[in-house]
Amino acid sequence: MRSHYCGALTTGHIDETVTLCGWVDRRRDHGGVIFLDLRDREGIVQVVFDPDTEEHFKRADKVRSEYVLQVRGRVRARGEGTVNPDMATGEIELLGKELEILNSAETPPFQLDEHTAVGEDVRLRFRYMDLRRHEMQQRFIQRSHITSAVRRFLDAEGFLDIETPILTRATPEGARDYLVPSRTHPGQFFALPQSPQLFKQLLMVSGFDRYYQIARCFRDEDLRADRQPEFTQIDIETSFLNEKEIMEISERLIRELFRDVLEVDLPAFPQMSYAEAMERFGSDKPDLRIPLELVSVDDLMAQVEFKVFHGPAVDEQGRVAALKVTGGSSISRKEIDDYTKYISIYGARGLAWIKVNDLAAGVEGLQSPILKFMPEGIVARLMQRLQAADGDIIFFGADNKSIVNESLGALRVRLGEDLGLVSGDWAPLWIVDFPMFETDANGDWTPLHHPFTAPACSVEELRENPGAALSRAYDIVLNGTELGGGSIRIHQREMQETVFELLNIDETEAQQKFGFLLDALKYGAPPHGGLAFGLDRLVMLMTGSHSIRDVIAFPKTQTAHCVMTDAPGVVEAGQLRELGIRLRESAKEHAKKKLAEE
Ligand code: AMO
Ligand code: AMP
Repeated sequence: MRSHYCGALTTGHIDETVTLCGWVDRRRDHGGVIFLDLRDREGIVQVVFDPDTEEHFKRADKVRSEYVLQVRGRVRARGEGTVNPDMATGEIELLGKELEILNSAETPPFQLDEHTAVGEDVRLRFRYMDLRRHEMQQRFIQRSHITSAVRRFLDAEGFLDIETPILTRATPEGARDYLVPSRTHPGQFFALPQSPQLFKQLLMVSGFDRYYQIARCFRDEDLRADRQPEFTQIDIETSFLNEKEIMEISERLIRELFRDVLEVDLPAFPQMSYAEAMERFGSDKPDLRIPLELVSVDDLMAQVEFKVFHGPAVDEQGRVAALKVTGGSSISRKEIDDYTKYISIYGARGLAWIKVNDLAAGVEGLQSPILKFMPEGIVARLMQRLQAADGDIIFFGADNKSIVNESLGALRVRLGEDLGLVSGDWAPLWIVDFPMFETDANGDWTPLHHPFTAPACSVEELRENPGAALSRAYDIVLNGTELGGGSIRIHQREMQETVFELLNIDETEAQQKFGFLLDALKYGAPPHGGLAFGLDRLVMLMTGSHSIRDVIAFPKTQTAHCVMTDAPGVVEAGQLRELGIRLRESAKEHAKKKLAEE
């Protein structure tokens, strides 16, 4: 139906007769001449109809925003003074000869160029309209380029694309499962995969050696800007490669991808231990573009009487850390109050601070609500350790380690953004040497990654001191976002059983949940390992988007709801009966309410 895309026309097409198809972006009437901006996925071109083409001019007069048209005409240079430098096709226009209205359109729910005036819920409800916007189309074009570049790279490296089941059993990745009731096995449920983890390991047992899949994963967890209940991984597994080799391939994949798609040469990927990242940045995904660091001051604060500091300073599980902001003394009391409130969502009970006005004047030159609790000698050593200078502000966090790390880690990022301290475009890094386990609220061991991650020690050493064991896991971080993670896996049954035992998964439960994996480990499992990138997060970063919702065509809201299709939905009683399911009273009430709303 068409000869060219609207947005693809250039001065090279001048005097050619072309046929275009697209949507009316705008229509203007200028002294008897009609201007139509015609839009398709490649861009916009201006079409002019003058009254000479009587019948077609009349039609052009009738069209409205978002009508679908087929237009034939001659490309010509725009007249002097009418060139539009803001438009890719701004040097030319189409002199319209024929116009066919392929479809009309009702007044759109929002003007595409005024999308910011409507809430995200309206944009999501009419997502197909929102996706017509140039910015959105560019993101999905980019996403498609990214996935094809990933495939090209992995294909060339000898990886095989193999699909794994969606209807399966639970894969422990730390979130709740989405369950699917089985009609043919009443009372039984499939779980949607949280990742293809177990299957990709089994493919290694089968000898496929190098596997990849651009795989959909499902996790019922609390949503944030960088989390969705269904998301996509670039999932990779290999045999006979150690962590160094897997990290090398993964790094090369990301490097070539950035070069291919963005023409960006990424800087080196430094490696940092988990312990160092927590100590210096309070986070296992530090944004290295921000030049602020946490400094431990437990030894100094152990010597002060201020209980808020003394307690955590002498507690094995506690931490007192300082965060110095060069030139930050101009931060106002009100701003400090706002920051205090901000970090309270991470459990921080306060935010102590010292402003350095005149260092040479000693304590007199400092300003702070906590100085009265601190001996002068300690303050002097504190200033020295932090290398404080006039004009600085120093913030303090004191609590158990995880609260201090999370709250000061978040404050660090917030200050970096607010004060314009983010420097450079890209800061990738690897985090390595993770602990094998951490303790949960009940004091039980839980895996930091998943329970198939290999420890960097022997079975005996692991049993001896599980808390000290490190794993052979690695995470890749870009600009403060965890882009991906993986590990060398356990390939020997004895080690896998030991890990289950430490995690309090008894033999019956292990056999019931992962018997197929334990069995597979008996039949010659090769040493193997891999990793998975979060594709949505990767595309979000590469397109400069703020949320992964902007790079998923039909995303869900914070409450895991699709406003366009209104999923999840109530199902008919008959369908439930067939599945052997009866709703609890409270669920019935919710369902009734939802039906009433419809
Ligand atoms: P992990 O759970 O770290 O590892 O997931 C890998 C990557 O997937 C992305 N990701 C998400 N993206 C969007 N929304 C979510 N809810 C979400 N959850 C995770 C992140 C993350 O780094 N099987 C292991 C990988 C392996 O060991 O090979 C796994 O799934 O970018
Ligand atoms: P208070 O004695 O409770 O008024 O606290 C004195 C200062 O210490 C205030 O600036 C509080 O914000 C701060 N503060 C209180 N608890 C903590 C904490 N756990 N970590 C850091 N600062 C705190």
